[in-house]
Amino acid sequence: MAKTVQTASGKIEALQQESRAEIKSIADPDALEEFRVKWLGRKGILTDVLRSVSKAPPEERAALGKAANQVKATLLEEIEAKKIEFDANKGKVKHATATSAASFSTTATATVDFSLPGRVPPRGHLHLITQVTDEIVDIFSELGYQVATGPDIETEYYNFDSLNTPQDHPARDSHDTFYVKPGDVLRTHTSPLQMRVMEKVKPPVAVIAPGRVYRVDYDASHSPMFFQIEGLLVDEGVTFADLKGTLHHFIHKLFGKDVKLRFRPHFFPFTEPSAEVDILWTAKDRNTGETKSQWLEILGCGMVHPEVFRSAGYDYERYSGFAFGLGIDRIAMVKHSIPNIHYLFENDLRFLEQF
Ligand code: PHE
Repeated sequence: MAKTVQTASGKIEALQQESRAEIKSIADPDALEEFRVKWLGRKGILTDVLRSVSKAPPEERAALGKAANQVKATLLEEIEAKKIEFDANKGKVKHATATSAASFSTTATATVDFSLPGRVPPRGHLHLITQVTDEIVDIFSELGYQVATGPDIETEYYNFDSLNTPQDHPARDSHDTFYVKPGDVLRTHTSPLQMRVMEKVKPPVAVIAPGRVYRVDYDASHSPMFFQIEGLLVDEGVTFADLKGTLHHFIHKLFGKDVKLRFRPHFFPFTEPSAEVDILWTAKDRNTGETKSQWLEILGCGMVHPEVFRSAGYDYERYSGFAFGLGIDRIAMVKHSIPNIHYLFENDLRFLEQF
């Protein structure tokens, strides 16, 4: 039995040698095609051998099949190599006339010009919003603030009630707030994080909380989904002066030392007193090239309302604190003179690649 295998595989080996010798002497594409048909065509020599494998005794089939398939694979490779060689020679003639590239090699790799620079795959980078978020978080981390996160779907309790927002406050209107189901909303600001953090930790507290927020709003400067960062600091003896000092430090780090800022009195249900902060921003007009300065609102802030401390179970006689909330998109737009907030979310690479 072993002998039959020997003989059969011996035959296959002989065929391999024969075919190899034959292909060496082939000098043109037509002869190559003839060769292919003779060996690998429908009635080709090797095709016959492969077919006969199924008639061999079962215990020999695997070995025979493997050997025959190997010969076939080698043959296909050699035919391919010959083809490339013929093509290259064609190319070489053209090159030689067009340029003086007479030193082109005639090997199978002659069509590859190794001197061409490689194609550099495009490299991705962090989205502008992520870059700006990281920048802001870094500034506050240096001051000892810790990062907190919370859910996008919030209960009305965390989003409104616990933040001293009355039942009839206009922000609760379904025209302004996305209601998921009665009692649950897409958070309209990152302020619910104030309560979620205070419920868990006792003062001193210093947290920064970035995240997506949602409002029913749509125009060039408003998107139904945008990004905010909440800041909260609570301890004994915290004053409005601490808030001002912190925000001055932050804005100068982010926008540069020369930027002026102003605090405008404002109202938020969860802070008292409250303010909005504007910066005096100088930018080149995209169309006219003129530089102009204008006051731009970038954040809301204030001293944490005693009612909020009460909801959190903090002793409001003992502790005081400040909170602020700023729009990340807004800051990215100001820093980079982006005229429309929707550019940030359309994922057009021509836009994103600029940052
Ligand atoms: N949550 C407010 C807003 O979305 C901003 C704010 C945060 C104001 C914290 C005061 C204190 O507009």
